[in-house]
Amino acid sequence: MRLSKIAPSILSADYANFESELKTIEASGAEYVHIDIMDGHFVPNISFGAGVVGAMRPHSKLVFDCHLMVSNPEQHIEEFARAGADIISIHVEATPHIHGALQKIRQAGVKPCVVLNPGTPIAAIEHVLHLVDQVLVMTVNPGFGGQAFLSETMVKIRQLVTLREEKGLDFDIEVDGGIDNHTITAAKEAGANVFVAGSYVFKGDVAQQVVTLREALHD
Ligand code: DX5
Ligand code: ZN
Repeated sequence: MRLSKIAPSILSADYANFESELKTIEASGAEYVHIDIMDGHFVPNISFGAGVVGAMRPHSKLVFDCHLMVSNPEQHIEEFARAGADIISIHVEATPHIHGALQKIRQAGVKPCVVLNPGTPIAAIEHVLHLVDQVLVMTVNPGFGGQAFLSETMVKIRQLVTLREEKGLDFDIEVDGGIDNHTITAAKEAGANVFVAGSYVFKGDVAQQVVTLREALHD
């Protein structure tokens, strides 16, 4: 069985105190920190860039899971690799060059992840699955924290599990959006093993919220 990993999203953290927020996440026992990069073009908001990722890097040993919600992500891979990203996730909808862009992430020494919006079918990534270490199935439309989990996306996770088995591939399946102590169970039952949670983790005591997510996984 694949190990479950919890990835608190700093989109819901205190932007003036990333250093202490990272320490809090690390102390909670979460494996990853999920860093949402938004460009005001692929999604309406602007969040933070590679400079912020680079500034955070010396303060944490957590896996930096960088989710690029940006148009033409292939133009930004080197800067996020240099900044210290461990995983770079790019949207299949954001570039006509998804195959080359995923190769570029690997060449930069970073783990590649391909992302699907709720309306995008698995068929859109079938021919690049051999290039990735992780597939992110969005469980909300990207751009905002605090949205409701879309349960209709679970069918795509099941399809991915089947494809992974048929093709003998090895990648994690991540979910992002609307994850709480109920929806995490549904996502795990469908076959996901990496769980991003923003508003749920930061609405209370971070360590306690991570414990409730972990308990709901019944690992
Ligand atoms: C949404 C982002 C998410 C966001 C999730 O576009 O990709 O990572 O932080 O927030 P919650 O967990 O509040 O839905
Ligand atoms: Zn995200």
